Parts: sequence; structure tokens; C-alpha cells
Amino acid sequence: MDNNKRPETMQRITTKELAETFIAEQVEAVRAQVGDKKVLLALSGGVDSSVVAALLIKAIGKQLVCVHVNHGLMRKGESEAVIEMFGNELDANLVYVDATDRFLDLLAGVADPEKKRKIIGAEFINVFADEARKLEGIEFLAQGTIYPDILESIKAAEGKKAVKSHHNVGGLPEDLNFELVEPIKLLFKDEVRVVGEALGLPHAMVYRQPFPGPGLGVRCLGAITRDRLHALREADAILREEFANAGLEGKVWQYFIAVPDIKSVGVKNESRYEGWPAIIRAVNTTDAMSATIEEIPYALLHKITDRITHEVEGINRVLYDLTPKPIGTIEWE
Ligand code: XMP
Repeated sequence: MDNNKRPETMQRITTKELAETFIAEQVEAVRAQVGDKKVLLALSGGVDSSVVAALLIKAIGKQLVCVHVNHGLMRKGESEAVIEMFGNELDANLVYVDATDRFLDLLAGVADPEKKRKIIGAEFINVFADEARKLEGIEFLAQGTIYPDILESIKAAEGKKAVKSHHNVGGLPEDLNFELVEPIKLLFKDEVRVVGEALGLPHAMVYRQPFPGPGLGVRCLGAITRDRLHALREADAILREEFANAGLEGKVWQYFIAVPDIKSVGVKNESRYEGWPAIIRAVNTTDAMSATIEEIPYALLHKITDRITHEVEGINRVLYDLTPKPIGTIEWE
């Protein structure tokens, strides 16, 4: 049987009871696969890797080693949330690596989006491989592969061209020859969320909006600088806070700020104040292949504009992107 193919008879996991049955089966399967050996997992804090982490903690406890690589391109508070949830609450075996300088030094001066993606993807593998080599006696690598990833790679193998190159932990160097553990690889995203909730992960983590692997790296447009990246992170945190306060969390599929590498003239405290614009992107979609624009209440846009321009050093304008996909992609790069 092709174990990368979802059997037609497999029931869709829509309820807590079905999720609990799935979890019990996977706990057994993982224990049978790994025995008393150790398993490594790159824990980004995204839904998929978080659900795999919680499932494996349940199955094998401290035999799981989670490595969280902070590439310096995370959103505000995100790495801290991973440490709090997995390191503290679930008491996981968690290695935290702050690799901000490694990534930002390599990215300095690089403006081309695809080059940025390649650098971030490759350096992520380097950092992760360095950590893996430091750890002893690991034979397995867990991955948060889900069914759409498998369908996507089948498409890629058939030679269909992708618009942007996404990355995951695949492609580790040959000396790190792990056997894969992929407990959610036959699940669709909505099922992963149901399983996550049944595992006791917080709603906010399980229903977290999608966040690209290269993180804020593809939202700090052009060549990334630390000051503009900082401004972007702060502006994005304000946007998320205000969307949550307005009850839009979970209603808008993806919303974020992009900050281009241009400055305009403004005025602050009666003086010339040059700054970057913050661009709001808020889209709805079902499959990310096409996307529509949300009608965000004007009062909310005014409030966000007011807060960002007053609270974020370096931003002097706020723009709202009305472009659907196609013609625009969801991310600006
Ligand atoms: P686009 O910009 O292609 O985005 O319309 C579609 C969805 O994919 C996400 N995205 C990425 N995810 N690595 C990822 O893991 C990437 O390089 C990447 N680029 C875009 C984007 O956030 C949206 O959800």
C-alpha cells in the first residue's frame, strides 16, 4: 500500500471523538516505530509542527527533542510563546536557538525575493543541522508534513511550476540520515486543527493565521535592515492586536503589514519627518490560490493608522492594499 496516499475510506476528522481515536492510533504507531530511540523535531510554532510536537510528547515524552530556531524574522512574541507553551507548560525537551545574527548578516544587502527565500531556507537547514550534530543518539526526524504538502510535491514532480519557492526542513545534509516520523501526513489542515484542540493546545495556537517560512523576511521588502524590520514587527503587532480587539481574528484569513524600502516626507512635531509606509494586507481565501479583499471598517483602519504612526518609530504613513489575487500575490514578495 502506498502510505503517502490517503485511503478513500478514511473518515474526515471533524469531532473531538474522531480526533481522540486518531491520536490514540498515532501514539501507538509512533511508539512502535521509534521504540526507545530519540526523535528530533524542528518546532517553528506553526500549527503543523506544534500539533506534531504535542502528539509526540504524548507518545514518547522526553524522547522527543524539539529545536526552535529563531531566525530573527518571527513576529513579535512568537518565539516567547513557543518557549512558554512547550518548554514550560508541556515541559518538553526544548532547545532554543537564537540565530538572528546568522540570518540577518547573510541577508544584508540582498534585495531579490527569491534569493532571500533561498538564503533563509538554506541557513535554516544549516542551523538545524548544527544543532542536530550536537545532540547524540538521534535516529528519527519528525516533520509536520500534511496532506496538501504531499499533493503539492506530486504536482512538483509532474513538473508544474510554482510561483514562489516555499521551504521546509527537507534537504538535510547526507550525514544526517534520519528516518522520518510524519504522524499527520494524511490530514488536511482543518483536521490538524481539530486534532490540535483535542491534544489540549490553545485555540489561538491551533487557529493561528498562516505565516510563511521566511517569516517577516518577505514582508520587509527588498534588502532587510534591522531598523526597518523592527518597525515592521511593531506595526504588525499593533495590526494583530487591533484586529483581535475588533473580533476579526478567525474571520479574516490572513492579515499583516509589509514595509517597503522607500521613504516619504512627513511632518512630526512641526519638523520634517521622513519615514517608511506600512502597508496593510488583509485577505480572505480558501486555498491561497486566489484571494479577495476584506471590507475593513474605516474606523478600525483609522485607529490602526493612528496607533502605528504614533507608536512605531520610522513609520509615517499607513496604506491599505486593495489588490485581489490574482493579480497581486498574497505576500508582496
Ligand atoms: P502568495 O504570496 O504566494 O502566498 O500568494 C500564498 C500563501 O503562501 C504563503 N507563503 C509562503 N509560505 N514559504 C511559506 O511557507 C514561503 O516562502 C511563502 N511565500 C508565501 C503566504 O503567506 C500565503 O499564505
